[in-house]
Amino acid sequence: MAFAEKVALVAGGTGGLGRAASLAFLSAGAHAIVTYRSDREFGDLKIGAGANASRLVGRQTDVTDEAAVQQLFAEITAQHGRLDILVNTVGGYAGGDKLWELDTRIFDQMLALNLRSGYVLARAAAKVMLRQGKGAIVNVASRSALVHEGGLAAYAASKAAAVALMDSLAADLKGSGVRVNSILPSIIDTEANRKAMPGAGFAKWPKPEDIARVILFLCSDDARVIHGAAIPVYGAD
Ligand SMILES: NC(=O)c1ccc[n+]([C@@H]2O[C@H](COP(=O)([O-])OP(=O)(O)OC[C@H]3O[C@@H](n4cnc5c(N)ncnc54)[C@H](OP(=O)(O)O)[C@@H]3O)[C@@H](O)[C@H]2O)c1
Repeated sequence: MAFAEKVALVAGGTGGLGRAASLAFLSAGAHAIVTYRSDREFGDLKIGAGANASRLVGRQTDVTDEAAVQQLFAEITAQHGRLDILVNTVGGYAGGDKLWELDTRIFDQMLALNLRSGYVLARAAAKVMLRQGKGAIVNVASRSALVHEGGLAAYAASKAAAVALMDSLAADLKGSGVRVNSILPSIIDTEANRKAMPGAGFAKWPKPEDIARVILFLCSDDARVIHGAAIPVYGAD
């Protein structure tokens, strides 16, 4: 119960990676506040949490909407008086089109889901955590933040910008007791990826639970010397 009494906000906490992170925080004793979009997915998470569901709260929040996120943080601080951990797993993927073929709406969507989500959440969390003099933020970016392949301009740019945002935030937070890091998955063994690539070798894909373990480590005091990092979680195969 390494996170007993800790309050963790997992944005996108019913998604492929978010679900594993939410369940891991609950198993480690934390109170988990999860943002979600689909009632069915939140219901499934509650069932998955079993006896730990008493420490799980869901909020249907669009985390790209700053007013909605401010409202969410006001509720969290009113109820718990603190926020120890923010993990942002909200994101979206679009690939395949060359830049000149890309629908600009997709470009805007990538920036909203992959950059603005972290911007809105991290600045709200930083204000609360600075008051506490302690806190940990993990933002999920992607290998594409570093490796800029063709057909991925909008996605890669949004993830690279998300890493830059967290790096600069880390510099702003230096010495404050609040730590911020990014993680960079390549492909994750999620249900959605299995459906999208039925012929692929799933066995070698990092499991959401394995990446969730890295997230928990980064949020723990054992990781107190890790700040401003962007950590690849590609797996070793
Ligand atoms: N899966 C991979 O292979 C992979 C690889 C590299 C990086 N990543 C990154 O890892 C993170 C998690 O990926 P994932 O596969 O777990 O994604 P996912 O299953 O799509 O989970 C993302 C969650 O965020 C929710 N969401 C979307 N837009 C939102 C919004 N505006 N406000 C609040 N919630 C919103 C989604 O809801 P809906 O389901 O209703 O859309 C979903 O529950 C993302 O940042 C992703 O880019 C994933």
